[in-house]
Amino acid sequence: MKTRGGRGPAGRGGGQPGRPRRPARDQARNAAFDIMRAVDERDAYANLLAPRLLRERGLKGRDAALATELAYGTLRGLGTYDAVIELCSDRRPDPDVLDALRLGAHQLLRMRVPPHAAVGTTVDLVRLRIGAGAAKFVNAVLRKIASRTLDEWIPIVAPDPADDLSGHLAVAHSHPRWIVSAFRDALGGGMEETAELLAADNERPLVTLVARPGRASVAELADAGAESGRFSPYAAYLPEGDPGRIPAVAETRAAVQDEASQLVALALTRVPLDGRDELWLDMCAGPGGKAGLLDAIAVHGDLAALQTRQEPGAAGAGPAAPAGPGDAGERPEPFRGGARLVASDVQHHRARLVRQTTTDAAVITADGTAPAWRPGTFDRVMLDAPCTGLGALRRRPEARWRRDPGGVAELGRLQRHLLDAALDAVRPGGVVAYVTCSPHLAETRVVVGDVTAARGDVDPLDARHYLPEVDGLGDGPYAQFWPHRHGTDAMFLALLRKRA
Ligand SMILES: C[S@@+](CC[C@H](N)C(=O)[O-])C[C@H]1O[C@@H](n2cnc3c(N)ncnc32)[C@H](O)[C@@H]1O
Repeated sequence: MKTRGGRGPAGRGGGQPGRPRRPARDQARNAAFDIMRAVDERDAYANLLAPRLLRERGLKGRDAALATELAYGTLRGLGTYDAVIELCSDRRPDPDVLDALRLGAHQLLRMRVPPHAAVGTTVDLVRLRIGAGAAKFVNAVLRKIASRTLDEWIPIVAPDPADDLSGHLAVAHSHPRWIVSAFRDALGGGMEETAELLAADNERPLVTLVARPGRASVAELADAGAESGRFSPYAAYLPEGDPGRIPAVAETRAAVQDEASQLVALALTRVPLDGRDELWLDMCAGPGGKAGLLDAIAVHGDLAALQTRQEPGAAGAGPAAPAGPGDAGERPEPFRGGARLVASDVQHHRARLVRQTTTDAAVITADGTAPAWRPGTFDRVMLDAPCTGLGALRRRPEARWRRDPGGVAELGRLQRHLLDAALDAVRPGGVVAYVTCSPHLAETRVVVGDVTAARGDVDPLDARHYLPEVDGLGDGPYAQFWPHRHGTDAMFLALLRKRA
């Protein structure tokens, strides 16, 4: 991330021999500072770097949590903090000084760190890592920042919402303006709901697990301290602790997976098909989250729904169809098992990861746009398309600052090509799920609309109909999940049946 350019090695002057060992709290601040510098200088991914760095430095428990909160929270919030810092500085700070100011601003404005501690510890860190001159500058700027609360700063540093609503929300909720506009368009909502979405994006997401049917159960995850999920019968939330310590996760019978990711895969398996239903394709499968669930359902069936059906008094149960719009009359059907998944990815190393998350699938490396299969081979196809990932900004603290609107058009071309290929790969009467972890209309409705209009052999199904347990998925026929409504990633689903 080059939020304002990078310069010089991180860690100048740190950890001098002969000095007394720094208190653990300061080790946490040092670690957070190093994560920020690595994100800026080396384009590191904070969520990949942080666990390794904290482990190497022996930071555990509350100190590890503090370091993580400092780094992730600062990276998420820096759009707001930079606006405040700019107003409080008489010059443009060097990149390392700017990162220290952001860390200080986060503690002052968002965390409940007392001002004297937030300023004092940040100034100490700067003196040790950068130098005495920079420490003096940081002291002066942070004191100015500490003179107001965040709520008092916002109207001063953000544009007036009456003149520039997206600009206001961008500064107040720390998102690039183009992302705010894209979210407003996708939500079709006003200021209030867009603000709720942006605020949800700044929260830490719950750790959600999936118990792959036939291989693990939610009860097993509950025994390990997890709580049942809200929507997916295979989901469980882990309130604290490392998921890797749970045996089912370590043995890949269960995994970390957002609940919307589970539900879009489940929805694909619930569409009733006439005739053959034995060969499924996951066309962009790496690293294998959806493939892991599809593989288990293909082989063992949608066990949660099948078991519910067998319970006394529940005859004919299963996911109930909602009254309302769409293709009423076609009930979502729990899949009974006995199919096989082919999981494919263009990148060999990602296909290798899929091999680790699946048990029975045939995993191959193949370019979906130059298919290694004959047209009409598959009964169900999952196309979880490469996308901007704007729907998962909660998980990757720096991601919002790295995306640019130019990437959307480029991805759109690939998404159209892949969707066309997915529709070729499915047999007449079969079904394709087009999924993105982005709500951007140019990656969702526009792609689906363009491809289906050009082909003329596709009937869009009402995707909401196959997710009866979830409200608030939009006006159809597609389903759009939202962090502020569902607590999930902003996942998009279109279900498309190829005309028989
Ligand atoms: C959004 S990710 C898929 C995530 C995956 N379904 C999961 O749930 O873990 C998109 C994947 O598409 C793959 N990809 C990109 N272009 C592709 C192509 N032309 N053919 C096949 N896979 C492709 C990428 O390597 C990446 O692994």
